Amino acid sequence: MYSFRPIYYFLIVVFLVQSAAAGDDEPVPAPWPEQFHALMLMNKSGSLEIVDLWYDWVNGRNFNIIQKQLGRLKYDLEWNNGTSFYYSLDESRTCRTVHFEVGILRPNWLDGAKYMGQRHVNGFLCNVWEKVEFLWYYEDVVTKRPVQWVFYTGREAHVMTFEVGAVLEDEKWQAPVYCFHNEKKKKQSE
Ligand SMILES: *[C@@H]1O[C@H](CO)[C@@H](O)[C@H](O)[C@H]1NC(C)=O
Ligand SMILES: *[C@@H]1O[C@H](CO)[C@@H](O)[C@H](O)[C@H]1NC(C)=O
Repeated sequence: MYSFRPIYYFLIVVFLVQSAAAGDDEPVPAPWPEQFHALMLMNKSGSLEIVDLWYDWVNGRNFNIIQKQLGRLKYDLEWNNGTSFYYSLDESRTCRTVHFEVGILRPNWLDGAKYMGQRHVNGFLCNVWEKVEFLWYYEDVVTKRPVQWVFYTGREAHVMTFEVGAVLEDEKWQAPVYCFHNEKKKKQSE
C-alpha cells in the first residue's frame, strides 16, 4: 500500500498559501487624502497649463484654477452633485454650466488599477498603475505621493506641490452671479 506522508500535504499547503500571498504583494495606490492642494503642470502635446488644484472630498467639491501659458485664467469648479461651472472672472464674464452624471473623483478612485511595475520619472522612483481606458498613475515609492499621471489622450499632469489637508476658504468656492443668470444647461454623460 502506498500513501503520502502528512509532510507532503503540509508542503503542498505551504506552497499554495505562498503563491496566493505573492499575488497580494503587489503594491496598491495610496488613496487620495480627503483634502489636499496641489500645483500641477499640465502638458497636452506641448500646450502648457498651470493648474491650481483644490480637492475637497469632505465638502463634496473640487476646484481647478487653470492658467494657460500666456492665456486667460479659467476656473473649473465641480460639485459632487454633478454640476460643474467653467468661468472666468475677467471682463468677458463668461460662464458655462455642465451637469455630469457622476460627481467628483472619490478618494479611492484608483482602486482596481492594474499594477505595471516601477519606473523612474523626473528623478523619482515610482510605482505605476494603469486605470484601464483612462490613465497611467505614477506614485513615489518612498513617500506614496503622486508624481504624475498621463491620460490616454496624451495629456500629462505633473504634480509640483502636494499639501495634504490644505483647504481653500469657502468664499472662493462661490461661482460668480452670471453663472446663475442664463439657464442654458447641457446634459453630458461623463
Ligand atoms: C510637452 O510634451 C511634448 C510632447 O507631447 C514634449 O515634446 C515637450 O517637451 C513637453 N514640454 C514640457 C515643458 O514638458
Ligand atoms: C449642486 O451644488 C451647487 C453648490 O451648492 C449648486 O450651485 C448647484 O445648483 C447644485 N446642482 C444641482 C443640480 O442641484
